[in-house]
Amino acid sequence: MITLGIETSCDETALCLLETQEKDGVFEYRVLGNIVHSQIDIHKEYGGVFPMLAKREHIKNLPILYEKILQEARTSEKQIGKIAVTRGPGLEPALWTGILFAQELGKKLGIPVIPINHMEGHILGSLLSKSESHIEFHKLLPVEFPALAVLISGGHTEIVKMEKIGEYKVLGATVDDAIGEAFDKVARMLGLTYPGGPEISKLAEKARKSNIEKKIKLPRPMLHSKDLKFSFSGLKTAVLYTLRELGDISDEQKLDLAREFEDAVTEVLISKTKSAIEEEGPKTLIIGGGVIANKHIRLAFEKLANEHSITLYMPVNGLSGDNALMITIVGAIKPREGSLGFKAEGNLSL
Ligand code: KG4
Ligand code: ZN
Repeated sequence: MITLGIETSCDETALCLLETQEKDGVFEYRVLGNIVHSQIDIHKEYGGVFPMLAKREHIKNLPILYEKILQEARTSEKQIGKIAVTRGPGLEPALWTGILFAQELGKKLGIPVIPINHMEGHILGSLLSKSESHIEFHKLLPVEFPALAVLISGGHTEIVKMEKIGEYKVLGATVDDAIGEAFDKVARMLGLTYPGGPEISKLAEKARKSNIEKKIKLPRPMLHSKDLKFSFSGLKTAVLYTLRELGDISDEQKLDLAREFEDAVTEVLISKTKSAIEEEGPKTLIIGGGVIANKHIRLAFEKLANEHSITLYMPVNGLSGDNALMITIVGAIKPREGSLGFKAEGNLSL
């Protein structure tokens, strides 16, 4: 069976063609095509994603990328058996473009269209192995349950318990800003470009490498709150006050601040995940979402998983940010009902 996947929840127009089969009762996949078209350069001048602009770009790019992926994958549209499309969460004007494109195509080809939760995509996207070879089929990485998933992206920060694939319970989430959003906002305060996560991370890494003296101190919000809730807006405000106090900020102070900010979010993230591990005793830890591209955070999760002798899965290069492969795998992995006329749901939860 070939599944076409479509992702347009934010500023990436992404399409994937995935072939799947069951061999001796085991699910296998191979990637026939996977395209991520980023709109970042267009949104950069606004310092963030501008929803109506994202919508316009998705509408323009979807038909072009659809033709491109069929050609690249040497696949005829008649071979597509079903379509998986992100229903939410995300920016509604952007989500609608993918949904309407999928529904129209589904009707034309007479195939089911399956609505997918973007966050479930981020979880299963971390279970894909390294090689994306077009020739061989691959198995998903084996998950022992119960598992914990930690989702860290531009819109989400949540710890999720999984009893099996498809069954999720959110144990704790942010009460205000998401972690990626905090990176982006702090980056903007420092005059860095959007998306801010990679920019802050570069400065923080430089500060560590050159051993810049630690002078700036930021709070670790909710560190001792005895629950699995996060809050990052106070941290952002603390950065704002620090910047006001410093006045003209030197390059060295910028590096110090970026490192201290990254340390603060990492410490809170790891401490909450540690509490969740101790409470729930998971056998597998899965991390998903754009922020896990951050090297410092990756290393901290590796250390934590080692200390608890727990299997850790994080997305491979190129799959931590939004992509359609992670959406397609969700649609392909188990029989899911196609649905007619479903709507975009900007606040959809797991
Ligand atoms: O999952 P994603 O691509 O989109 C959403 O679903 O939100 O995540 C995007 C977020 C942005 O906030 C971006 O700044 C952040 O991931 N990000 C990073 C890094 N790379 C991307 N944050 C920290 N360090 C990074 N290296
Ligand atoms: Zn995402």
